[in-house]
Amino acid sequence: RTVAVILAGGSGQRMGLSTPKQLLKIAGKTILEHTLGVFEESPDIDEIFVLMNPGFLNDAADCVKKAGCTKVTAVLPGGTSRNATTQLALDALADHPAETTNVLFHDAVRPLLSQRIIRDCVTALREHRAVDVAIPSADTIIQVDEDVIVDVPRRANLRRGQTPQGFRLATIRDAYEKAWRDENFEATDDCSVVLRYLPGTPIYVVPGDEHNMKVTEPVDMFVADKLFQLASSDAPDLTEDEYAGALAGKTMVVFGAS
Ligand code: CTP
Repeated sequence: RTVAVILAGGSGQRMGLSTPKQLLKIAGKTILEHTLGVFEESPDIDEIFVLMNPGFLNDAADCVKKAGCTKVTAVLPGGTSRNATTQLALDALADHPAETTNVLFHDAVRPLLSQRIIRDCVTALREHRAVDVAIPSADTIIQVDEDVIVDVPRRANLRRGQTPQGFRLATIRDAYEKAWRDENFEATDDCSVVLRYLPGTPIYVVPGDEHNMKVTEPVDMFVADKLFQLASSDAPDLTEDEYAGALAGKTMVVFGAS
C-alpha cells in the first residue's frame, strides 16, 4: 500500500506574496490542485495525506474538493520546517503497518510531476527501502564558504534532487527518530535524513524530469504556466526535436523575443 504525502506546510517567502505559493493559480487551477490531481490519477497511489500551512487549512480542503480527490484521507496542519511537517505526517501514519506501507513525500509546489516518475518510485520501493528522484545539472555547482569557492565537485557525479522521495514507512520513521536526538539536525529534504542517520541504507535514484520543477521564485510561475500550455497543446506525439523546437518557440513568446 502506498501513501502520498503532499508537503504544503510552507509559506513561500521567496515568492514574496502573503498567500502561500501552493495556492496561486496556474492554467486555471491552484498549484495544489494540479499536484493533487496527478496523485489522484495514479494507479500506484492508494491514499493521499495533505499537510498544509496551518493558516490555510480551509483552502486546502477546498482544493481537495475542487480537484475531485477521493483518495485524500487527511488534511492536517504542517510544522514550522519542512522536516517538522514530514514528522507530523509520520505521526499521522502511526496506525499504518510500518513494513508494508510505502510513503512518497512530494513538494506541493512541483505540480508538473509525471505519472512515470510516480510509477518508477513505487516500482523501486519493491527492492529498495529508500528512493530519490534527481536530474543532471546543466550548471557547474560550486561549494562556497562565505563568498569564496572551496570546491568544484565533478559535474558528471552531481544531480539535482527533486521529489517525490519514497520510503518504507519503517525506514523513514527510524531515520527521523534518530535525527531528532541530534540537536544540530537540519535538512532540506528527507533522503538526506536517511543518509545521515541510517548510514549504509542504499538510496536508489530514479531519473527525474526537467518539467518537475519546484515553483520557488516569481519567474517560476511564468515557466510553469508555459509548461502547462505545452502539456495541453494539441500535438501529443512530437518527436524530441520538434518538442525542443516547440518549447523554444513558446519560451521566446514568454520573454517577448521574436
Ligand atoms: N514545506 C512544508 N512545511 C514547511 C516548509 C515547507 O511542508 N514548514 C513544503 C512547502 O510547502 C513546499 C516544499 O516543502 O511544497 C518545498 O518547500 P520550499 O519551496 O523550499 O519552502 P517554502 O517555505 O514553501 O518557500 P520559501 O522557502 O521561499 O519560504
